[in-house]
Amino acid sequence: MERETKKISDSMIEHIYQVRPEHLNAAERLFGGKLMEWIDEIAGMVGMRHSGGNVITASVDNLRFIRGAFQNDLIVLSARVTYVGNSSMEVRVDTYVEDFEGNGARKPINRAYLTLVAVDSHGNPKQAPLILLETEGERAEWEAAKKRKELRNQRKIEGF
Ligand SMILES: CC(C)(COP(=O)(O)OP(=O)(O)OC[C@H]1O[C@@H](n2cnc3c(N)ncnc32)[C@H](O)[C@@H]1OP(=O)(O)O)[C@@H](O)C(=O)NCCC(=O)NCCS
Repeated sequence: MERETKKISDSMIEHIYQVRPEHLNAAERLFGGKLMEWIDEIAGMVGMRHSGGNVITASVDNLRFIRGAFQNDLIVLSARVTYVGNSSMEVRVDTYVEDFEGNGARKPINRAYLTLVAVDSHGNPKQAPLILLETEGERAEWEAAKKRKELRNQRKIEGF
């Protein structure tokens, strides 16, 4: 049977949060752990939409915080599938702070790559649909993601 293919746009999600007092750390900045939760959550929902079932997070890469965020800031998370192996899907999550009081410009906070694994009702990995690559950017991201998957496999083998 031919493997199902879905568009990236069918599962991509953009979500906006406002930083509230309960999201701050002792230095009165957005708590990094809260942002990690939002990143993991949105990536999981993209994986669920793409695979049409439950997913589990296998890995999270590239959590480098480029700038901080503060109370009342608007935090934009934009997430999309970049690559599909057999059961695994790589999801890229871009996080920005949006200047809603000015010209609406978005300044990057973080870009993370998460690997989600599609699982069946017993929690065992199951095959996920492929993605339809429609643009040069999507094809380039797919090729880059293949290299990232090789690196993750290597790290897993070496326990590094
Ligand atoms: C993710 C998990 C299912 C992988 O188990 P496994 O025995 O290695 O399974 P497989 O070898 O069949 O791998 C399944 C897929 O996961 C990928 N994978 C496994 N370990 C990975 C890792 N460390 N990083 C990225 N991808 C990984 C494999 O490459 C494979 O992808 P493919 O099907 O597209 O080729 C397993 O490690 C697990 O259940 N981890 C806990 C996940 C969890 O509970 N997350 C919630 C937060 S704690």
